Amino acid sequence: MPLVNTKEMFKAAYEGGYAIGAFNVNNMEIIQGIVEAGKKLNAPLILRVSKGARAYANHTYLVKLVEAAVEETGLPIALHLDHGPDFETCKSCIDGGFTSVMIDGSHLPYEENVALTKKVVDYAHAHGVTVEGELGQLAGVEDDVNVSAEDASYTNPDQVYDFVTRTGVDSLAIAIGTSHGAYKFKPGQKPQLRFDILEEVSQKLPGFPIVLHGASSVVPEFVEIINNYGGEMPDAIGIPEEMLRQSAQMAVCKINIDSDLRLAMTAAIRKYMAENPSHFDPRQYLKPAREAIQGMVEHKINTVLGCGGKA
Ligand code: G3H
Ligand code: 13P
Ligand code: ZN
Repeated sequence: MPLVNTKEMFKAAYEGGYAIGAFNVNNMEIIQGIVEAGKKLNAPLILRVSKGARAYANHTYLVKLVEAAVEETGLPIALHLDHGPDFETCKSCIDGGFTSVMIDGSHLPYEENVALTKKVVDYAHAHGVTVEGELGQLAGVEDDVNVSAEDASYTNPDQVYDFVTRTGVDSLAIAIGTSHGAYKFKPGQKPQLRFDILEEVSQKLPGFPIVLHGASSVVPEFVEIINNYGGEMPDAIGIPEEMLRQSAQMAVCKINIDSDLRLAMTAAIRKYMAENPSHFDPRQYLKPAREAIQGMVEHKINTVLGCGGKA
């Protein structure tokens, strides 16, 4: 099976009350860890490449690695641009083998977001590529953009129908209290998501796939390993997994996870190096790192996403 776009995946996920995991990829070990988990649990996957990942690993290397993952596993896998910053980046990914792109105009005035998103949709659909738009702004750090909690804004449900019908997007990322990175809530603050906004959005857009960014749970077990082996992340807090599971049973069809993969990988490497200080062959520490990625993705599929057995 070749790379697929997200159309059929999202239709099945919406109807089945589960979500597809969308995992950021930056190198071979991350890709292998994710797809091994997908293969073991027979889960469809979205592999996401950010602007930063393209700058780090090179577009062609990442496309070829993901194509190899498809060939090795036979799973339905979509290759998706994460937070496309402009039309040119989206076009370059569409022309260069991606099957899905996000155009992130969420920081723009509403009419400019509509115009830019529609321009990307027109080009993408002519090439069989699906498009994710965004309304509302998440807090947190992504690439070179840092949105403070004060500048973040929830999605306005009164805008979603107009945005989706005028742009023609295939899915919509909304802001309901998730945020990018490992510090989603302040210590002592009770984690909360605005399920009322999600519910209102889904009433305005029946059957339409919704996306959650910033949906890592910052799994405490891995933060603890990092802190125990010389790291310093005392205040890292994520979204409780039961809240994400609840959203997947509602209209959310795609859940974005990056920070949890970073934590799993870094924890495994820190632990390995601390326990084996004389080792210097990268394969020795990247093997447990890849296994940690696989374990994290299996955990997400079973606990949060519910997409096991749906490939
Ligand atoms: O939205 C942010 C993702 O975690 C990707 O992060 O832009 O540093 O690759 P990155
Ligand atoms: P996390 O930082 O919560 O993993 O979110 C990743 C994300 O949404 C990337 O687009
Ligand atoms: Zn994001």
